[in-house]
Amino acid sequence: MKKYSYIDFLAQCGVKSAHPGGMTCTERIFEQESITADMTILDVGSGLGESANYLAKRFGCCVYAIENHPIMLEKAKQRMKETEKRVMLKEASIEGLPFENGFFDYVLSESVLMFASVKKALTECYRVLKDSGVIILNEMTLLQPFPENEKRELMSFYGFTECYEINQWKNQLHQVGFTKIDIVSVPLEQKQANQIDLSLELDLELLDMLDEHEHILKKFDGKIGNLILRCEK
Ligand SMILES: C[S@@+](CC[C@H](N)C(=O)[O-])C[C@H]1O[C@@H](n2cnc3c(N)ncnc32)[C@H](O)[C@@H]1O
Repeated sequence: MKKYSYIDFLAQCGVKSAHPGGMTCTERIFEQESITADMTILDVGSGLGESANYLAKRFGCCVYAIENHPIMLEKAKQRMKETEKRVMLKEASIEGLPFENGFFDYVLSESVLMFASVKKALTECYRVLKDSGVIILNEMTLLQPFPENEKRELMSFYGFTECYEINQWKNQLHQVGFTKIDIVSVPLEQKQANQIDLSLELDLELLDMLDEHEHILKKFDGKIGNLILRCEK
């Protein structure tokens, strides 16, 4: 039994933008949207709050962020102090969002859904979106059918509840009610280096996880990728 989950690892290492393509990808996605200051955005599983902070600053809109990992929350709170409390950060699970129906113009999920029950999480995201609302996902996807044992290896390392191919993602979204589902393509240059905010007392076991992660990325190179989907209600 492992001492740390992958999310513990990200939290302890303080990986600031823990999704494929990092902040450059987030910025490029939102360059293609028409965000105005009167809009309300929810960043689910917001980690250290990098994307939420960016959206609030860049567009001057109202941004909420929810997170359920204590270390992520603590580090995000510290970082948000430095950015003048523009983001409303709440401790909550994506499986039970503490917001009224139809509250948000946008929901953003960057590498989050597969850590939760995808169906419950998507149902909640759908519920809290306005009728004209949009969800943007940037999630890991299988680029080809996987043998069961490899799928299990991937799920077990990351702590995923599910692993989907592109069409399976689209089906999940259709099932909860999303109608217009588009793949977003974002030009990205080189692989981005991750910025980190290390915890003071870092357990060496976390370094083993770093090695294991490298191994997983090499092993599944070309077989997994990230999928950016923009879906309207
Ligand atoms: C890979 S990290 C991505 C963090 C952030 N979205 C980013 O791009 O930097 C996944 C995040 O989802 C959060 N998470 C996982 N399950 C969750 C749940 N049920 N409710 C809320 N947050 C969750 C984790 O704590 C973690 O911060």
